[in-house]
Amino acid sequence: MAKTLEEIRAELGDCTRCELCETRTTVVFGVGNPQAEVMFIGEAPGRQEDLGAEPFIGAAGKYLNELLALAGLERKDVYIANVLKCRPPGNADPLPHQIETCTPFLREQVRSIKPLILVTLGRFASQFILKTDSGITHLRGQVHITGRYSVLPIYHPAAALYDQAKKPLLEHDFKLLKLLIEKRHEEMEK
Ligand code: URA
Repeated sequence: MAKTLEEIRAELGDCTRCELCETRTTVVFGVGNPQAEVMFIGEAPGRQEDLGAEPFIGAAGKYLNELLALAGLERKDVYIANVLKCRPPGNADPLPHQIETCTPFLREQVRSIKPLILVTLGRFASQFILKTDSGITHLRGQVHITGRYSVLPIYHPAAALYDQAKKPLLEHDFKLLKLLIEKRHEEMEK
């Protein structure tokens, strides 16, 4: 049987399983509706998240909140977590051993929530969930079916803040998410 989010959080504890524990302020577990139909997976906490103990509360998070509206969603409807639960110093890319050590907890979170749709934000989350080495430019905007989940890889909102050319594509993909939610609802009614 799947564990509850509280059980998973308790097991994670004040984690010292990798070296990120030495530089982080807080373990950023995840936030949102434990029965969410849509779960978002980002990369790792940034400075704001490390201090505030919640995913996506900095600039990328503010933009994510705006994007959610394009899919007819609010933050309270969804669940948000990251590949890594601790901030890499200087927002460095997650390292393979950090991903390997940390992601069993993410897997348990997915199992607990059982969303209909997993939206992976950026390269690291998309490659981890889809078990692929393909780049995000290739993956984004295409729905993949893995097991019981529909997976929608999209650009990371922070990438679109740095590179404005990505904004229309990201906004397109949130409208696609709206259609995907409607499709999954229709399928459930059959
Ligand atoms: N970027 C992420 O990938 N996750 C966060 O929680 C914040 C910024």
